[in-house]
Amino acid sequence: MTENRLGPSFHTDQVDDVTQRELLVEILDSQAALPGVRRLRQWTLDALRIEPGDRVLDIGSGTGSEVVAMARLAGPTGAAYGVDPNPGMLTVARKRAAAEGISADFVEGNAYALPFEDGSIDAVRCERVYQHLDHPDRASAEIARVLRPGGRAVVIDSDWSTTIIHPGDPEVVAAMTATSLSRSLHPHSGRMLRGWLTHAGLTVEGMSADAVMWEPDGIRAMMPIGAEKAVAQGTITEQQRDRLLADLEAGMAAGDYHFSVTMFAVQARKPD
Ligand SMILES: C[S@@+](CC[C@H](N)C(=O)[O-])C[C@H]1O[C@@H](n2cnc3c(N)ncnc32)[C@H](O)[C@@H]1O
Repeated sequence: MTENRLGPSFHTDQVDDVTQRELLVEILDSQAALPGVRRLRQWTLDALRIEPGDRVLDIGSGTGSEVVAMARLAGPTGAAYGVDPNPGMLTVARKRAAAEGISADFVEGNAYALPFEDGSIDAVRCERVYQHLDHPDRASAEIARVLRPGGRAVVIDSDWSTTIIHPGDPEVVAAMTATSLSRSLHPHSGRMLRGWLTHAGLTVEGMSADAVMWEPDGIRAMMPIGAEKAVAQGTITEQQRDRLLADLEAGMAAGDYHFSVTMFAVQARKPD
């Protein structure tokens, strides 16, 4: 990735900056607390049907919270792994798992070359990673490779083109959203997941979705970044940015606001 991005990024070329890592962790923590994310994560755990003794894997494991959740289900006779290319994220995840008394391995790695043998994993999850990938097809092939026959996978991603923001001048909101989408690798990732997994030879068994509705803390963390990108791209003016952010602040103060993105989850199985 060579794109010059503004603000925090989950792309693998921006992994060493400590301030940025702290901001990314803060964003992930605030998203993890959202009811929509929590519901989809619980659905994912149910769909993965993890049994004691299973070997389970989270690709792009971030802060490691879902590795911990899977490790609890796999129990002491199982094994739980998190893979992430960001060493800073791995450090955070290791500390948090240890603090909860969970035994899990967090391994530096990449969705394109998972450090596991063919057919060695019972259940795989991957959340909000595909939108950052140059080659989602290769990541899907890797999931299919490491799963044992009959193994289960759930891949989750946002579909950013479903973003709804209120209040704000609809034309300015549309211009800002379009700029963000044009700079995303896969702004329609959520709707593509089923196809990517099917093309990798997995059998899709179910889908779920939730509109993730952000609260003021998350809106305040993310909106200025998107607005700044749009100003830098010349799709909105500084005055429009200021007005939009002020409108949102006023809306949040009055309890009249909405910021949502739909997240989709696809449940698949490797044929026997
Ligand atoms: C938006 S975060 C999501 C983290 C976590 N899955 C969650 O839902 O909270 C994206 C994560 O994907 C990781 N990532 C980025 N590129 C990746 C790649 N090529 N392979 C695996 N993980 C990657 C980032 O380091 C980051 O931890």
